[in-house]
Amino acid sequence: MHQRNKIYYCRPVFRPPSEANSLLIQVTEGCSFKCDFCMSNLRKKFLIREVEEIKKDLDIARQIYGPNVKRIFFLDGNAMVTPSEKLLDITNYAQKTFPKLERCAVYAHAKDIIKKSDEQLEELSAVGLKIAYVGFESAYNNLLKNIHKHATKEDFIKASNKLFKANITLSATFINGLGGANQPEISEKHAIESADLVNKICPDDDRVWYIAFLTLMIPPGTELFKRMIKNEFQEMSSVEILQELKVFIKNIQFQNKNANCVFRSNHASNYLPIKGILDREKDIILGNINYGLTHIEFLRPDFFRAL
Ligand SMILES: C[S@@+](CC[C@H](N)C(=O)[O-])C[C@H]1O[C@@H](n2cnc3c(N)ncnc32)[C@H](O)[C@@H]1O
Ligand code: SF4
Repeated sequence: MHQRNKIYYCRPVFRPPSEANSLLIQVTEGCSFKCDFCMSNLRKKFLIREVEEIKKDLDIARQIYGPNVKRIFFLDGNAMVTPSEKLLDITNYAQKTFPKLERCAVYAHAKDIIKKSDEQLEELSAVGLKIAYVGFESAYNNLLKNIHKHATKEDFIKASNKLFKANITLSATFINGLGGANQPEISEKHAIESADLVNKICPDDDRVWYIAFLTLMIPPGTELFKRMIKNEFQEMSSVEILQELKVFIKNIQFQNKNANCVFRSNHASNYLPIKGILDREKDIILGNINYGLTHIEFLRPDFFRAL
């Protein structure tokens, strides 16, 4: 029988920038959702791979990279959708294969988290699933409905609290510019509701958690691209984007003054790289945004922005 000696990938693969040095293991292919702005499932049919095939990939990775792998990212768009026993089995096997493994990570839609019980999430955390990257995109429910996110602000609160309870680190992303140009009321609601969500989920201890803002890109093939072609959606300008971000930051107010929320807006899609700890460094972050607003010549040109 033919024995494969290459790790299987269903390309193109998507992973968070912070997992650039992690071993990538294909657990699912594509995504079981279809948000209007996202290209994760454009050329892929969603499926959950067979556990034995995934274990084979871990064995091959051990032969290629040796036993000292420290981080693994389970591809693809929402590997958290994988049934708990399967994910538990895979994570356990990864731990056995790589004794120095520090963490496994996944992309997770809020609904994938909510569907798992607290016990299941705690078991996954105990065997090494230590961080989940969750796309909030916005906390303005009308906007979430409009982009077919299939989740609400209330779902994000529930999902975040479940992750915190299970000791799985939350890394959540929002998208600047999602409401489109010439929609000041939507932009304001997007920023204010998103800040309110972040204020509400802030844990009352000093654990590290992550909030990032990406800036909307409109990849060809997506529903949003089709709307843009029909002139039903226009992209915001860089100044409008920064103003939206400013409203978000202004409205962040944590009760817990020891909170360790790492804020980043330094992805390649952003016009200006910004980072800081919320809400302690709120004034520094606002200062950076104001600098960008008064020095638009320093903003990343559109042709250098990427996903
Ligand atoms: C590959 S998705 C996985 C997240 C996870 N499936 C979820 O929806 O919760 C990662 C994140 O990239 C961001 N993203 C995807 N397409 C984007 C686009 N066209 N412009 C800006 N950000 C985008 C979104 O924040 C999205 O949640
Ligand atoms: S944003 Fe997440 S849930 Fe939505 S289509 Fe992309 S990968 Fe799937």
